[in-house]
Amino acid sequence: MKTEVTALTGIWEEDAPKIALAGKIIRKGGLVAFPTETVYGLGGDALKAESAEKIYAAKGRPSDNPLIVHIADWEKLEGIAVRIPDMAETLAKRFWPGPLTMIFRKNKIVPDETTGGLDTVAVRMPDHPHALEFIRASGGYIAAPSANRSGRPSCTTAEHVVEDLKGRVDLILDGGPVGIGLESTIIDLTEETPCLLRPGFITPQELREITGELKTDPAVTGEIQSGRAPKAPGMKYRHYAPKGELTIVKGTAENVVCRINILIKEALREGKLPAVIASSENADRYDGPNVFAAGSLQREEEIARNIFAVLRKADDAGASVIYTEAFDTPKLGGAIMNRLNKAAAYRSINADE
Ligand code: TXA
Ligand code: MG
Repeated sequence: MKTEVTALTGIWEEDAPKIALAGKIIRKGGLVAFPTETVYGLGGDALKAESAEKIYAAKGRPSDNPLIVHIADWEKLEGIAVRIPDMAETLAKRFWPGPLTMIFRKNKIVPDETTGGLDTVAVRMPDHPHALEFIRASGGYIAAPSANRSGRPSCTTAEHVVEDLKGRVDLILDGGPVGIGLESTIIDLTEETPCLLRPGFITPQELREITGELKTDPAVTGEIQSGRAPKAPGMKYRHYAPKGELTIVKGTAENVVCRINILIKEALREGKLPAVIASSENADRYDGPNVFAAGSLQREEEIARNIFAVLRKADDAGASVIYTEAFDTPKLGGAIMNRLNKAAAYRSINADE
C-alpha cells in the first residue's frame, strides 16, 4: 500500500481539502493516521467491522484489545452508547474536548470488532481542531488506537508514525508534535462506582471533584499478576517497549546518578551499548554515551510530552540496555511512571539500598 503524508499548515483554506480527502478515505473503508492532543491515532470507520480488522492488522495488535471511538460532537454519543449516566455529561462539560476517555455500554450499531468483543465502548472527544474536523468529515465515528505498531512507544510526531506505519495506512496527516504526549485518561462508567482504567493528563484528583468516589483498576498500579484480568484489555499487553532492556533506577538524585554511572561502566565492559533517560537537571552528570534528557523536573508537562520520544531515541541509538530516572512529579508523575513501568516490565532498582 502506498502511504501519502500530508502536512497540515494550520491555515484553514489550505487544510480543508486535506481533511476532506482524509474523510473520504475513511468512508471508503481506508485508514488515516492523524494528530490529537495526546498522541497520534490510527483511524478507521468505527462502525465498520472491516475497518476495525484493518486497524488491528496495520498495528499488529491482538483483536481482543478494543479501540477507542472518537467523536466530535456530544450528540453523537447517543448514537453508540446506552445507559449514559448523568455524571458523563458533567465530566464531558468539564473535560471534553480533551484527554479523557469514558467507557459506556454500547448499542448494536457498534460492531464487536471495534470493541474487541466487549459489550462496552470507549469514547473520547479529542481537543485538536484538525482531529475534530476529520472526525466530522468521516461520518462522525473514528475508531483509533495510538498510531504505533503494537508494543512500540506511542507516536508523538508524524515522523514516528511514518517509522511504524509506512505502507500500512493510506494517509498520514502531519500536524507536528503533539501537545500532551501521554494517551488519554480512561474512566469506566459502566458500574456503580466509576473506575480509573488508565492514568493520563487528567488526574484522579480532578476526576474525583466530579465523580466523588473513584476506584482504581489493579492493572493501573501493576497488581495484575493476581490472576484477575484487567478491565482495559490493553493493560495486559507488553507496552511501549523500546528494543533495549529498560530499568528504572529510583532513589535520591545523588544515589541515582552514582548508581547509573556504575551501571554504564558495567554495561560498556560487557560490550553492551547503554543509554540513559534523565531529567534535564541531571543529564550532564552521566558519563556514558546516549544520554537523553526528557525535560525538567520543574516542568512535568515537558517530561510527559517527551517520554515516548526519548524511548524511541534510545532505540535509534541501538542501545541494548537503558537506564531511566524515576519521574515522580506531583501531577503527572503517576501517568508518566505508569508508562515507564510498563515499558520496563516493572524492572527497577532502588539506588538508596
Ligand atoms: O489518547 C488516546 O486515548 C489515544 C488517542 C489516539 O486518542 N488512543 C489510545 O488508544 O491510546 P489505544 O488503543 O492505544 O489505547 C486504548 C486503551 C486500551 O488499553 C484498551 O484496552 C482500552 O483503551 N479500551 C478500549 N475500549 C475499552 C473498553 N470498552 N473497555 C475497557 N477498556 C477499553
Ligand atoms: Mg496504545
